[in-house]
Amino acid sequence: MIRDPGRLRLLRERPRDGVAVEAMNEAAFGPDRQQKTVYRLREGVKPIAELCFVAIDQKDRMVASIRNWPILIHDKWPAVMLGPLAIAPELRGLGYGKALMWHSMAQSRMLGHSRIILVGDPEYYNQFGFRRDLALNIQLPGWVEDRRFLALELVAGSMIGVHGMIGKWRPGWRPSKRKTVNRK
Ligand SMILES: CC(C)(COP(=O)(O)OP(=O)(O)OC[C@H]1O[C@@H](n2cnc3c(N)ncnc32)[C@H](O)[C@@H]1OP(=O)(O)O)[C@@H](O)C(=O)NCCC(=O)NCCS
Repeated sequence: MIRDPGRLRLLRERPRDGVAVEAMNEAAFGPDRQQKTVYRLREGVKPIAELCFVAIDQKDRMVASIRNWPILIHDKWPAVMLGPLAIAPELRGLGYGKALMWHSMAQSRMLGHSRIILVGDPEYYNQFGFRRDLALNIQLPGWVEDRRFLALELVAGSMIGVHGMIGKWRPGWRPSKRKTVNRK
């Protein structure tokens, strides 16, 4: 039998969704999820509000969630860290994960971002263009399974030359100005 939830609404995450999003992530990733390396980059940093989405069904239940966080690579290259992404167990395998991924990635580009990193199953994330080789010169501040550490260029070439340790986003961070050549 095909499970059909009917029409879903895709919304920006609202303040009142926070508890349900946490519950959904706990169900998907377990209570130990906060020990994972990526959580070190999230502690004390707010997700990017414009890049957090929820899917709501016709009975007003949240059935999917995706969040994205700001990070800084080598204190030099800003990037988006995608995740967590979770779909309600009864609605998995119906294309909603893909829909949220493509929406989130498109919105990231629209906001001016040029690169995304994530830690996840390559068997799932390769289809969106995430690649292991693009993340070979960057490091996370803790252990991750190498094969699951992936990057994506929203702008072609935006990972070229990008290297070093990934750190937390710092509010107010601005790229340092390049020295301009005095043409006089
Ligand atoms: C992984 C997850 C987000 C995928 O969303 P979804 O809506 O179930 O998946 P979609 O319908 O978009 O895609 C389904 C396809 O992805 C595949 N797929 C799903 N999870 C996968 C995984 N972990 N590894 C490889 N392939 C996977 C399915 O086999 C299916 O393949 P097909 O299109 O060839 O039939 C969802 O299953 C989920 O919430 N899982 C638990 C949490 C999780 O693992 N999150 C991802 C890590 S950040």
